[in-house]
Parts: sequence; structure tokens; C-alpha cells
Amino acid sequence: MTYDFDTPVDRRGTWCVQWDGITDRFPVADLLPFTISDMDFRSPPQVLDALESRIAHGVFGYTDWRNDDFRGAIRDWFRDRHATEVDVDRLVYAPSVLNQIAQLLRMWTAPGDGVVAHAPTYDGLRKAVTGLGRELRTVGLDDWAGLEREMARPDSRALFLCSPHNPTGHVWTDTELRRIAELARAHDVAVVSDEIHADLTHDGHTHLPWSRYGGHDGRDGRDGAGLRWALVTSGTKSFNFPALSGSYGFVGDPDDHAEFVRRMDTAEGLASPAVLSLTAHIAAYRHGGDWLDGLRAYTYGNLRMLEERLDAAFPELRWRVPEAGYLAWVDLRPLGIREDTELQRVLVEEEKVAVMPGGTYGAPGFVRLNLGCPRSKAETGADALVRAVRKVADRAAG
Ligand SMILES: Cc1ncc(COP(=O)(O)O)c(C=O)c1O
Repeated sequence: MTYDFDTPVDRRGTWCVQWDGITDRFPVADLLPFTISDMDFRSPPQVLDALESRIAHGVFGYTDWRNDDFRGAIRDWFRDRHATEVDVDRLVYAPSVLNQIAQLLRMWTAPGDGVVAHAPTYDGLRKAVTGLGRELRTVGLDDWAGLEREMARPDSRALFLCSPHNPTGHVWTDTELRRIAELARAHDVAVVSDEIHADLTHDGHTHLPWSRYGGHDGRDGRDGAGLRWALVTSGTKSFNFPALSGSYGFVGDPDDHAEFVRRMDTAEGLASPAVLSLTAHIAAYRHGGDWLDGLRAYTYGNLRMLEERLDAAFPELRWRVPEAGYLAWVDLRPLGIREDTELQRVLVEEEKVAVMPGGTYGAPGFVRLNLGCPRSKAETGADALVRAVRKVADRAAG
């Protein structure tokens, strides 16, 4: 089946952050947005059909996420898409991935403890860690010595692994993941692997779920031989329904798993999931694979288009399509652009586009352009970016 990703859907007036909430992050409202990571596409028709049927039922009472339809859809998705057997007895549910991360950090770290993460860093993680009063300790993606140094600090109690990595799109290899697992074991650091971008890898790159590295019988999680870990994810990114809310994960250690569920059921008051999210996840995982493949190919086409335009305008950037996702992370430093202010001014005032400044992720001199959108919009954004960069680079040079 072919799907139409070309025809724009007008999202304005839906209270959406991407279009209607531009002034949350930018000084003016009338900008074409390439910002927060959701897409301008409708969810797959198979998901919309399932939601319509569920809505037609009309009763939305308290619901149990520990049901065989949800568990089975997740188990089969991991088996078919990621060639990985997951233990659904270790499944957890939470309203969002960030909520899960926050719960895990509360469980595994104390205020003042260090949480290690790679730089550049997904801004949601930064907010969660600092908002919880923990200290974010970042190291470059290739800085293995720095990673060991930070993980070895006695009060570094958790590693946040963004897998695949937002914003660079890096897909971690088996060798890298083994190395991270060894470090985590050696320094007794809990691993929180955020795999929300896992389904969006591009051909030639294989996502490897963390459950393969932490071990799925986490019983040895506390005796030094094993690892304390959680894999947190959801289908909301892949199938574009984040505001239906809902996420799930696996917690390796059985006691940690029980404790997580206990907290959600008691102190957090979050025993019942959003039923429409469950419905959407099950439909997406059972019937949405074909749509997802179409989406990956389409967004890859958007990224290739950007690659061609950047290559034509600035060959010295040698910018390449990321290994995963629809976010283009572009290093402009080879053009003499080392801070965000002037480029942002030109993008906003002269080009009328909203593009995320690298500083949001701790990396001034970069930009993050969201190309989860129809080709026509992606082209407009690519051209605006090229023009703005040209102006600012020329000024920097001259
Ligand atoms: C790496 C990563 N984790 C988590 C999230 C947010 O997920 P949720 O809305 O379920 O908290 C995002 C959204 O951009 C993300 O990129």
C-alpha cells in the first residue's frame, strides 16, 4: 500500500506545540516550524481506524495495561522489528517516556547524585535531571575515556543512554553497547536506555535493544555480576501520536520492576493507562509496519534532499544523512559559525523559519532541523537554512 506523505495537513488551531506554540521558544509566532520532534503527518490509517472503533464504543473507563493484547503486540514488535525476545513480565507502563525516566531516576539516584549522558544532550533529559535536583554530567559521543571517568565518580549512579541518539541520530553498535555495559557493570551505574527513536533507523543501520546487554533475568542485578537497567520507549514517536500520551518499558531487575509498578500504582496514582494510547499502540504494532517503512523512506528522502542542497552550497560541511530519525543535526562550525544568536536572528527575522539552535542541546554552532514533514515544507526549510547560513558565514568570514 502507498501512503500520502506529500499533502500538507493544516495543524494550526489544534493547540499543537509545533505550530501553535511557536512563541514558547521563539520571539514571534508567524514562523514555519522545524522544531519539537513530532511530525506533520497523520498517524497510520490502521491506527485511526482502531481509534475510531474504540471511540464508537463510547465507554472509556479505568483500564488495565497488563493485558495480553498490549503485551503480545509489544513482544511481537520487538521480535519482528528488532529480532529481540523481550520478557513481558518485566513490562512497565507510564504516561510518557520522560515520566518513566523521572521515576527511574527517583528510584535509582538521590538528590545531588550524578547522571551521566552524552553530549549533545536531548533537552528533555537535561530538564528532567536538573528538575529532580540531580547533576547532569555530559561527555562527547566519542569520548570513551571521559565516559569512564564520569561513570567512575562514586556519586554517578545512572547513565542515560539515548539509543538511537537524539539529536545526532547515531545508532549504537554492538561493540559500543558492550563497552557501555562493561563500564556500567564495573562502576555499578544503572542504565536507562531511551529507545523512543528505535523504529526510525535508516536502511543499513540496526538498532540493538538494551535488553540484550543488561540481561533479561536481572536477578543478578545487585550482586555485581549483572546490571541495573531499564529500557524506556513508546510507539508515539514512530507513529506520531505523542499527545495521546503513553509509554512503556522493561525494568531488568525483578525487585526494581516490582518497585516501579508499586510506585505508579500507589504514590503516583497512575495505575490506569490512557486507553486510546493502548489502542493506538496495539494497532500500530500489529498493522502499522508497512506505513512505518513508507515513513522511513519518505523522511530519508527529505534528509537526502537536504544533503544535496548542503553539499551544493557548503561542500566543506560534508553533511550526511543521520543513521536514524527525521532530525537533521548540522555542524556549522566549519563555516565559522560558533554561536547561535546571529544565525537565529537571520532565520527568524529574515527567513521566517523556526529551527532549533544547537545551544538547546549544549552545542552552539549547530542547528537541528525537523524534517518529519511533507517534502514541500522540507524544501522550504532547507532553502531558508542555506540562505541564512550563507549570510551569517559570509559575515563571519568577511
Ligand atoms: C530521546 C527522547 N526521549 C523522550 C522523548 C519524549 O517522549 P515522551 O513525550 O513520551 O516523554 C523525546 C521526544 O522528543 C525524545 O526525543
